[in-house]
Amino acid sequence: MSEASRNALGHALFDYMIGRADDALGVEDANVAAFQRFELVPRLFGGEPPDLRASLAGRPLAAPLVIGAFAGDRVFHPEGLLPVARSTQRMGLAMVVSEETVTPLDEITAANPETWLQLRAAGSVDRVTRIIKGAANAGAVGIVLTLMAPSHPRPGQRPGGFDIGAELRRRGWQTIGTMLDGSNAIGVAPLPALPIWGAEDLRDAVQAAYDARLPLIVKGVLHPGDAMPVMQAGAAGLAVSNIGLRQSDRWAPALDQLPRVRAAVPQAQILIDGGIRHPADILIARLLGADLAVTTRPVISALTGGGEAAVDAFLRRMIDGLYALTLWMGDGEVQAR
Ligand SMILES: Cc1cc2nc3c(=O)[nH]c(=O)nc-3n(C[C@H](O)[C@H](O)[C@H](O)COP(=O)(O)O)c2cc1C
Repeated sequence: MSEASRNALGHALFDYMIGRADDALGVEDANVAAFQRFELVPRLFGGEPPDLRASLAGRPLAAPLVIGAFAGDRVFHPEGLLPVARSTQRMGLAMVVSEETVTPLDEITAANPETWLQLRAAGSVDRVTRIIKGAANAGAVGIVLTLMAPSHPRPGQRPGGFDIGAELRRRGWQTIGTMLDGSNAIGVAPLPALPIWGAEDLRDAVQAAYDARLPLIVKGVLHPGDAMPVMQAGAAGLAVSNIGLRQSDRWAPALDQLPRVRAAVPQAQILIDGGIRHPADILIARLLGADLAVTTRPVISALTGGGEAAVDAFLRRMIDGLYALTLWMGDGEVQAR
């Protein structure tokens, strides 16, 4: 993460972005480290000009890259997510928007129509249903439902020690979730950790999305045994993710789980989320079973350190780098270091 970003944000907010959990074993991001355990073996002959085009739940993308969700956008930049929306739209990429975003959803979808809304699978299904309907009206094209540890059982324990909810309340800001759930409360919705949602609740949420004509992707799968039940509940795909190790540092890196999750659901659309920093990471993830790669912190870092131009530069570097690597690779392989 860039020095420019740390200088722009100050230590408290920068630490929130990095978000080390209390049980962290070191300063290294284990998701990033997992990618460093693999290397690429290119072939010499027959590389064709690559076609990077991909799709997310049937909607076309210029490349297999999606921008992930982060809470509290306007704390990070005065224009919130709008520079990211404009940049991703120019690049032909989709973005996922947290329900804890301050910028109204219709302003974001106006800037990039390929916008998905991310919701926490906590509290009542009715609340999620109301937000899904609101998201469809505001122009979102899909829902990402975070099933893994969507709320901390001990309120007050926050990634990096920073309370984003309190910060938004202090500024008097509403978020998309509370705008769309009808409560119009200031800040983020205080959702209970218990009861944890069951398969029945997931099916109801999928049905609500289906009624609103939106595909729903489940975020937070790590155990291969969860992949099939998620797909059987009607999800359009799943994201292998430990939510950036923000709640606990001891969860398995997303990349380490990817091959077994892929083996459990060979036909499913799989996104990998966590640790994508370089074009080579996208290629490694694809060769290990992902259809699409999601990246978040590098975008926050670019946005805060250098604004829209820096987001453009980062995304361009990812796409151009992926093109070059794919061309050089031919039908090469990935192997453990
Ligand atoms: C500041 C920050 C806020 C986040 N807020 C959310 C959120 O509201 N909902 C969510 O599902 N994930 C959230 N995440 C997790 C990211 O979407 C992503 O899963 C994680 O950062 C791992 O990807 P990365 O290594 O590319 O950053 C947040 C991450 C960061 C850094």
